Parts: sequence; C-alpha cells; structure tokens
Amino acid sequence: MTTTIDNETAPIWSHANEKARSAGQWVRPQNIFSGRSSIESATIDGVKVIRLSAVPMADTEFRRSYSVVDEPVWRGNDTISLPFELEWQQSLPARWDFLFKLPESTKCFGLGERYSGLDLRGGRHTLCATDDPDHDESIDAMYQSIPLLILASGEETYGLFLDSPAPQRWHLDCNLDGQGRIELFSRHGWRLYAIGPASLPSIVRVFTNLTGRANLPPRWALGYHQSRWSYPDDESVRQIAREMRSRKIPCDTIVLDIDYMDGYRIFTVSRERFPNFRELISDLTKEDFKVVPIVDPGIKNDPNYPIFLEGIQNNYFCKTADGKLFLDTIWGGTSALPDFLNEKTRKWWSEKLGFYTNYGVAGIWNDMNEPTILDMDTAASGLKGKKPLSGEIDELPPDDNQTLIQQLDNEKIGHLEVRNLYGYSMCQATYEGLIAKNPDKRPFVLTRSGCAGIQRYSAIWLGDNKSFFEQMAKSVPMLLNVGLSGVAFAGADVGGFGKDADSDLLVRWFELGIFYPFFRNHSSMGTRPQEPWAHSPIVEQHIRNLIEMRYRLLPYIQGLFWEHVRTGAPLMRPLVWHYPSDQFAAQVDDQFLFGSEILVAPILQRGKTQRLVYFPRGLWHPITGGSPIVGGKAHMVELKLGSVPAFVRDGAIIPMAAIMQSTAEYDRMPITFSAYGDTASGVYFEDDGESFGYREGIFNEWFLRVERDSFKAQEVHRNYQAPKREYYLQQQGVSKPVQLVG
Ligand code: GLC
Repeated sequence: MTTTIDNETAPIWSHANEKARSAGQWVRPQNIFSGRSSIESATIDGVKVIRLSAVPMADTEFRRSYSVVDEPVWRGNDTISLPFELEWQQSLPARWDFLFKLPESTKCFGLGERYSGLDLRGGRHTLCATDDPDHDESIDAMYQSIPLLILASGEETYGLFLDSPAPQRWHLDCNLDGQGRIELFSRHGWRLYAIGPASLPSIVRVFTNLTGRANLPPRWALGYHQSRWSYPDDESVRQIAREMRSRKIPCDTIVLDIDYMDGYRIFTVSRERFPNFRELISDLTKEDFKVVPIVDPGIKNDPNYPIFLEGIQNNYFCKTADGKLFLDTIWGGTSALPDFLNEKTRKWWSEKLGFYTNYGVAGIWNDMNEPTILDMDTAASGLKGKKPLSGEIDELPPDDNQTLIQQLDNEKIGHLEVRNLYGYSMCQATYEGLIAKNPDKRPFVLTRSGCAGIQRYSAIWLGDNKSFFEQMAKSVPMLLNVGLSGVAFAGADVGGFGKDADSDLLVRWFELGIFYPFFRNHSSMGTRPQEPWAHSPIVEQHIRNLIEMRYRLLPYIQGLFWEHVRTGAPLMRPLVWHYPSDQFAAQVDDQFLFGSEILVAPILQRGKTQRLVYFPRGLWHPITGGSPIVGGKAHMVELKLGSVPAFVRDGAIIPMAAIMQSTAEYDRMPITFSAYGDTASGVYFEDDGESFGYREGIFNEWFLRVERDSFKAQEVHRNYQAPKREYYLQQQGVSKPVQLVG
C-alpha cells in the first residue's frame, strides 16, 4: 500500500530539509519500505473506519497499541481507498512520512494540547511531550501528545488518528499549498485510523470508542480546587480552609504542592512543617475538604531513602544506554526516574500510593511527567533539556545514543520513541493504585502529560500558563481542541500560574473558569496571591458569586459528564459542534458551548465591559435573567465585571442546585429546574456521585418537559434511591415546587 511520489510534485519532506531547500540543496528521500503493511476496514457506531498498519520488517509483528482499547472486527480489503489521497512511505530506518491533501474549505481541529486557535491549519504541530513554560506562538510542542486530527468541512468530517507514541510533527498546509504532512520518528511500526465521513460528534464518538472515555468524576472533583505552589506548612493549609468556610466561599479541594514533602522525596511528608499530617487530613475531611497532593516521578538519589533503594534493588528505574542507572536533576536534586512502561514498576508504584490513601487523601496530582529534567547540560542527544525533540532532527537518534532507555514488553527501547507514554503510564499506575485501595470509589487523578487515551486514567490541565489576558483567551480554543481529542475533564490554572494576576484579570478568569470542566485556581511561588479574598473585598464578592454559580450548575455539569461517558462528547464544545452548517459558527473560537444548552462568551481583554457575541440561530437568555437575544447574528453585549458570561438556549431546562459550601451538602440541596422559554425540555441525571454503581445501572435519568406552566418528568432510567429533597420549577422569575415522579 505504498505509493511512489513523482518528483515534480514531491513535497518538502522535513523541517531540516526545508531549511536546506531554501539554500537550493533539497533532496527528496527514497522510499526504503520493505516491511509489511495491511489495510482493513470496519464500521464503528455506523461510521466507516479504515485501519492502515505498517511495520518496517516483513517478519515483525504489529505492536500492541497503548491507546486503543476497543477494536472492532476488521476486514481486509485491497480496494479500500484512503481519504484525502493519503500516501505514506518509510524514508529512513527510523522515519516515516505521510502526505495528504487538505481541501481549501477544510478546518483542522484536535491534536490535543496546542497553543493555537481552534483551527490548526497553517501551523506546525509537534507531538513530543515537552515542559516549556513559555507558552506563546513559538511553542509547537507542549505537555500532551494526542495524534488525532479532525478535518471538518461543513457537515462532512473525518478523523485521522496516527496511533504511535513516537514523536511526530504535523505540518498543516504550512506552505499554503493544500498539503498536510506528518513526519513520524519511529523505528517500529504504526497504525493509522481514517474515520469518516461523519458528523463532528460522530468522529469524536468513534475516537473515544477506540481509545476509551473518562469515568464519571467523583462529584467533589467537579467543585472548586484551591491550589498554590506552595502552602508551606500545616498552619497555612488550615488557614486556607478556615478562610474558605468563614468567608462562605464554596470549595471542595485543597491542593498540596511539592513543599509538603521531606526534601522533595516522593512518599514522604516533612515532619517539621507537617508534624501531624494525619490529623491535618482528618480535620480537613471533617470540614468537608478533600486533599490532593502532588506526586512527581523523580525519586531522589539518597542511600537513606527506602523508595530509592527499592527502585534500585528491583530494577524499577530507567537506565542509560550503557546499562547504568539514569540520574538527572529534578526538584529533589539528583534523581532517578521510574520506568512506568515496565509493568512491575507500575505495580510497585500503585502499591506505594497506599502511603497517601492511608492518610486519607482523596486524589493524586501527577506533575513533571513528560518527564522533565531540570538540568539542561547533562541531557545528551535526543533529550536536550526541556525541548526533547529538536526541530532539526530528521531521524530518531539510535537507541544507544539516547539519554534514557526504557523496558517495553521485555525489550529495551530508547526513551524518545516512547516518551509520549511516560505521563500516560504513570497515570495508569496511579489510577490502578487508587482503584486497588478503594475499589468502589471513582478515582481522581490529574496529569500534566499524556497521550491518546489519557482520559481513561486522568483529568488534565494545560500546565504552566501565565497571568496574562492573552493566555486566558488562548485557554478557550486550547481546551476545545483538548475536548475534541477525547479529554473532557480538563482545565487551565484559573488566575494564571506564572506572573502576577491583577484584579481585573482574576475576576475575568473566574468568569470563564467556572465553565472549565476542571476548575482550579493555582499560582506559582513568588507571584501575587490569588486566593479569592487575596485582592480586595469587592474582588472577593465577585469571585464568591461566580464560584456559587459553579456549584449551582453541578446537576447540569454531572449530566454533561454522563453524556461524555455515553457518547464521548466534551463538555466545552466549539459552536460548530451543534451548528455545523452555520458558516459564522465555524469561525468562532473565543466563545464555546457548555453542553448543548449554554453559550459562554467571556470577556478576554483588559478593561473591557462589552464584547461582540455571536449567537447561533434561535433565542438566547442571559443565564442570570434579562431580555432574550435573537440569534443568527452577533450582538454587542454588556458584561460588567463579575457577571456570568453565559446565555441559555430558548427551550432548555437547566437543572440547578441551591448554593452549598461543598459537594458534601449536595444530597440535601433542593434542585431547581430552570426553564428558559414557554416550552422547554431537558435532562436530569442523578447518582451517588462517588461509586461505580452507574456502570451497573444505578442512576436515574429523567426527561423533563414544561409546556406553559405544566411540568412533566418522564423516567428514562430509574434504579438509584435518590435522597429526599425538594424540587422546584423556575420559569419567568416564578418558582414553584414540583414532584419528580414518573
Ligand atoms: C510545575 C507545575 C506547577 C507546580 C510546580 C511545582 O511547574 O506545572 O503546577 O506548581 O511544578 O511543583
């Protein structure tokens, strides 16, 4: 299934050659492929999927996939033709090139975490896990690497999923010649799935069918998380908790960054600063807080540190090419890196997590897992400092020339080829560890790095952003692409991590952040504090109101996650998701739909109190009340500081809870079905918010309908003994009690 590419139309094959060509020296590489390839097709959820596979040698097996968990029955067929005239070749022993056409009207979405607008077309996108805190237009490799490209043209959409953990660069019409190119740096094989044509929701549905979906998050993880690098001691953590409760700012989680540890040793707690950790966690738990500590992969090189010794004795760590222990600088100084590809290491790590669960912590935050190596000078070829894949490489360095060696299914492999699996396999170990400790509790794991399928194990956040309006604005299209790449549970540090947040930015970021599926305020050491009360009473008042709105929306948010579990749909959706034939909607990426019913249009610039909002067809109601706005066009809308920048579709019912201080109160809260419009309908989902019971059908789902003022609740599924609570219907400012009976 290889194609000869004629010289006249030959593409520029590589970044390095691209530079050389402008000096008139470009030479097209030969196709050296003499391995084995196959092409098969299947139907998944009614959508056609073609699977192309290749290995470089005729007698090698196709590798097992880390990302794909559910394969359909494939049928071989020689007559299958690939969309977009896709061609491929092996150009060097450890380099593959793919070429495809990008029709003029086609938009490009997905590819996980990209510092880009929603449409990725015109840019180069490197997928090689990289910790680079300088997020700006020059960055084309970030923490997450998800090789799903969505090609959308009106109602007709395709997905191209290159299933390989190896580093890759996607060039999407960079030369405005209508060509897409992928350079894949792998000594092994790959599989490419071409999904479609189908609608955008169907493409994401099929992709998440292949790579899996997130489980329902525990309800507490949908509340507000307060974090900072770092709350340095017991007293400062208690103080945060006291402030939250005494100021009546709803909050579920307090996050512990690296300073809880003893000298940054993982699986330890500093005795000086946290003399009674158990009591701290237990007191916070009594106050309805969950605690989520950070857990980094780097294990300090210290002969008196049992974890380090266990790792050495049992061969759990990554090696150098000459078989020695790999050591480099991470927070704790010289450290080793567990080899999470090795199943034994993962098991060990899972068991070690008992250290945290025995203290009563509720979830785990996995950071630095690209992995990051802080010492730039000692990192040799292929892993130079923070930028592991240099833009100049044309081929993967040989394994014995790589800085780290890992163990993949009993075979040694240079780290670079499987680098994108590091964070993923760490999260796998973490998730499995948490499940093993509490088999019926939905785990909460948060990660910085991941690859296709990471949603099965972990939520993600966008890493070290800065307190700039520009970066807040970028979080919208970034999270939209992350969601289209299968990861629904995602957010960005509200308020910004690096640099100082001013009050205008902080309030505006909360206005947006209450709609991030993962909602956490986090900031770096040395920056201006940005806890809700840290700036001024008026800022605090705005932030309290906004967080309260998040908690009120929890029933709706849980319904959206339930939809994700069933269909793969993200919570944050580009307008084109629901309005594929609307030409204007396709261009919008500074607004988004939160589920199908809420349009969010945040203020994204300093000092502004108005913005242009594009409303798709229909009527839209400001979520907190006011005259409806006629859609199908853009309107200039006033959004004063502290307002909720959201509009509800006419005809929707949004289930809302009463204000609570944490989700521990959720089951006692009255639920109000807010109907927007005379005739409205909606869905209400309820379960216990913590167990896997929903997988066995222990949940309730209601279809709600209001006509004039008659309310009907139709039982779609009912197998959960819901707590006794009051229900209300709210319509046109009037609230009345209703019964939830089928
Ligand atoms: C990394 C993380 C950041 C964290 C810091 C210290 O920069 O991205 O969130 O606060 O490390 O652990």
